Amino acid sequence: MNLSDKDFYKLTDYIKKQYGLELSNKRRLVEGRLGCQMTERGYSDCREYLKACFADVSGKELNGLVSLLTTNHTFFMREPEHYRFMREAVLPYLKSAHSDSRTMRIWSAGCSSGEEAYTAAMTVCEYLGEQKSMWDTRILATDISVKALSAAQRGIYTERAVSDLPADWREKYFTKERGRYKISDTIRGEVIFRMFNLMDGIPYKREPFDLIFCRNVMIYFDKDTRRALVNKLYDVLTPGGYLFVGHSEGITGEMSRYEYIRPAVYRRPK
Ligand SMILES: C[S@@+](CC[C@H](N)C(=O)[O-])C[C@H]1O[C@@H](n2cnc3c(N)ncnc32)[C@H](O)[C@@H]1O
Repeated sequence: MNLSDKDFYKLTDYIKKQYGLELSNKRRLVEGRLGCQMTERGYSDCREYLKACFADVSGKELNGLVSLLTTNHTFFMREPEHYRFMREAVLPYLKSAHSDSRTMRIWSAGCSSGEEAYTAAMTVCEYLGEQKSMWDTRILATDISVKALSAAQRGIYTERAVSDLPADWREKYFTKERGRYKISDTIRGEVIFRMFNLMDGIPYKREPFDLIFCRNVMIYFDKDTRRALVNKLYDVLTPGGYLFVGHSEGITGEMSRYEYIRPAVYRRPK
């Protein structure tokens, strides 16, 4: 790998400024992933490849580069305490508070390949049961990785990937095709996937969210970036709306505007 110090820092500075991701201490990871992508794209020289990424006005090369520098590890029913709390506290609250409009606004911010948003959609369907058809509970799911988003949109998972879901959910919410599990049209239709960079201004102020999942995204951000993001999320939460962050992220000092509810659960005061 012929990535010079200058090119490495130029790239990691750009990624940090643009996407908030701190990669300057992850040289081996950056080199490893760049190496694979360069070969795939037919480049043997790093500088040439990076030049091509920044010169491509369609943004396609750069999107590919960003996708490969993100860490997309996720799984169904990750941090099950959140889904339990959602079922036992958040959904009952929203069902009663929004009984007139019959809408619930949920956002999976940093959704990766869709498992988080689909688990939330299944949780909502299970909770509302037969009343689901009377409610608009579609979930917005966003990420910067085009690769992860296209996997999310395909919604096809391995048997192992769905093994943490209850057996009856696998039956109800997936179809089995050649040993793989495809998310049902019903659940697929409950989630709207979009590319969105959390470093940008959040354009959803007019229709704020009742529940935001922003889990295991901020671990790659520095303190100032995390603080700025949680404040932006606060501004697009309804009063009484909840924010779920990852249990291992240790985000506490940044949450001064929020009410602490329980580990990794915060609320915008009513
Ligand atoms: C480790 S995954 C977490 C997925 C899921 N939230 C979970 O907890 O399982 C982190 C995701 O955050 C996304 N991400 C990182 N920086 C982002 C940014 N600036 N804007 C939007 N998404 C971002 C990555 O592309 C990645 O898919």
